[in-house]
Amino acid sequence: MAVEQPYRGGRGAMARTSRIQGLRDLSVEARRKTVAESAGIDPALIAAFDPGQGLGAGLADHMIENVAGILGIPLGVATNFVINGGDVLVPMATEEASVVAAASNAAKIARIHGGFHTSSTAPIMQAQVQIVGVADPEAGRVRLLEAREELIALANAQDPKLVEFGGGVRDLAVRLVGSRAGTYVVAHLQVDVRDAMGANAVNTMAEAIAMRAAEIAGGRSLLRILTNKADLRLSRARAVFDAEALGGPAVVDDIIHAAALAEADPYRAATHNKGIMNGISAVVLATGNDTRAVEAGAHSHAVSPAGQYTSLSRFEKDADGNVVGIMELPMPVGLVGGATKVHPVAQASVALLGVSTAAELAEIITAVGLAQNFAAVRALATEGIQRGHMSLHARNIASTVGASADEVPAVVARIIADKKVRADHAEKVLAELRAHS
Ligand code: MEV
Repeated sequence: MAVEQPYRGGRGAMARTSRIQGLRDLSVEARRKTVAESAGIDPALIAAFDPGQGLGAGLADHMIENVAGILGIPLGVATNFVINGGDVLVPMATEEASVVAAASNAAKIARIHGGFHTSSTAPIMQAQVQIVGVADPEAGRVRLLEAREELIALANAQDPKLVEFGGGVRDLAVRLVGSRAGTYVVAHLQVDVRDAMGANAVNTMAEAIAMRAAEIAGGRSLLRILTNKADLRLSRARAVFDAEALGGPAVVDDIIHAAALAEADPYRAATHNKGIMNGISAVVLATGNDTRAVEAGAHSHAVSPAGQYTSLSRFEKDADGNVVGIMELPMPVGLVGGATKVHPVAQASVALLGVSTAAELAEIITAVGLAQNFAAVRALATEGIQRGHMSLHARNIASTVGASADEVPAVVARIIADKKVRADHAEKVLAELRAHS
């Protein structure tokens, strides 16, 4: 099996730093310039972040059917990330306030002990072929395994380019799945999809072998589709979060308690994992990848072998009393094909990240998931999340009641000081402000 090179953060020839002081005080346009300079790339490569230059109606019309418009989502850049020894600035597309700031904060703490360390398996995706009506399923399974070489050759013949680039079918596995409607013989093609997300490649292969597989097994083929439980395509991230920077041993212990509850309790695990996906889905979306595929893979991986839904991360205390966070989950993302290849903003995101393989991208996304998760758990184990949310929430409210960009700061300051972060109060404050100006 091919061994993937881990991501060497910010390894572009001119890559510089992910530490940018005062980014939030700049205008949106000035931020783009600063971000490009800090990443060591030509600002033209991220010009598409400008809404006027992003996805146009013409291109959108080729992407899906019945296009009637384009939805804008804010794209922020998370700072402070060091991954495998290199700095990287991370584009995140999300409608949720505080996500980008929280990831950047966690990355800043992780920097103290060298940032994030990542690794991956080879990019193996699997497609299933369901075979129904096999009289002797046990023997049908073995007949298919006997025909392994033939079926693999048939599948590989569908994608000579993939094989030429070092990918292709790595193995054939066959499972028997008992159901209330009978026992199915289910063949799995395990395919190294290289830098693709791989859905198209494996679906084409599954369709191509289905008839022959059914003939060999002695039944009829039915479903021929990839599985989103991409458990042979895993990415991992690890980071140490300094005890002193977190506020000392009591905070560390509470963070461990918070994570332990998520591990033990599915009700908490769902929310804990939602926090992880806040980070992961934002980078997946920014790079034009399939958020639903990554989410399906993550949640299926969150089920323990005993069948319990649990957390996707683990937090422990190291020998020096710091928090060590780890995360391992399927990360089926690609760089070739799909929206990643055609969407100008996705292309700009990839340029900003400086990645050239899908594995590198997958590992950055996993590191962001860990950072996001750590930030949420830390906030919950200390002051709670509401305080952090409040100022952005207040900004949203100020805009909602009609405050202009110039008026927003004054409205926000007043409604927070009055401890009434509500639309009715914001309206009142705005009216007063206008009356006095
Ligand atoms: C909110 O979007 C995400 C959190 O609920 C995650 C968590 O509880 O760990 C804060």
